[in-house]
Amino acid sequence: MSMSGKLMVGNWKMNGSLAANASLLSDILSGMGRVSCRVAVCLPAPYLAQAQSLLAGSAVELGAQDVSAHESGAYTGEVSCAMLRDFAVRYAIVGHSERRQYHGETDATVAHKTQRALAGGITPIVCVGESLAEREAGQTEAVVKRQLATVIHTNGHCISEIVVAYEPVWAIGTGLTATPEQVQSVHAVLRAQLLAATAHAERVSILYGGSMNAANAASLLDQPDVDGGLIGGASLKAADFLSILKAASR
Ligand code: PGA
Repeated sequence: MSMSGKLMVGNWKMNGSLAANASLLSDILSGMGRVSCRVAVCLPAPYLAQAQSLLAGSAVELGAQDVSAHESGAYTGEVSCAMLRDFAVRYAIVGHSERRQYHGETDATVAHKTQRALAGGITPIVCVGESLAEREAGQTEAVVKRQLATVIHTNGHCISEIVVAYEPVWAIGTGLTATPEQVQSVHAVLRAQLLAATAHAERVSILYGGSMNAANAASLLDQPDVDGGLIGGASLKAADFLSILKAASR
């Protein structure tokens, strides 16, 4: 497992407002006293400036939910790495299943976004995960390995600088969580794949995401290859998010 403590990342998705963010972030900050894991929150781009100022001086780091594969120029609607860096963004989620599903992102797109993020000083959180149909067809391992292989192939030895998130699509926002055993078995496959690509695979944090909550976080985080979590719904409620952070701080 990765050596430097659990990494817990909130993925707010397309939620929030100036008022709601201010209250959520202030509630999270006031509960951080007993939290010793690494923490980041990934906000919608328009709120990064607000969050940067509210989180200044705290242990909570800032993330984005996507990043452009291009450096700059005529790409209407895109947000570049350099723009994110202007707001002290440390992480960017790349290849979330919602972007693969609704925005046509392919394994190649995800690999290029990963490459751009690494070149631009942002740690990409690369998401992989199978659909329910793929799991039922026994294709889970093949699917996640194919998704990660393209990223490894495109990024060479820099691969030790990424974060991976295993998010089974059928567990996202559904209340269905993969069992700790299912999660560990996929994480072990991903770890082995990283080990074959880099001497520093132990540095890569492999997060689990998909209906992680206060009740199931501890048993998932106890698995040897689960280095943290990517938390959607439960990261929008300060009390729930803080309980998960405490489970990650034992
Ligand atoms: P969820 O989302 O925790 O609401 O299932 C996780 C994610 O999609 O990152």
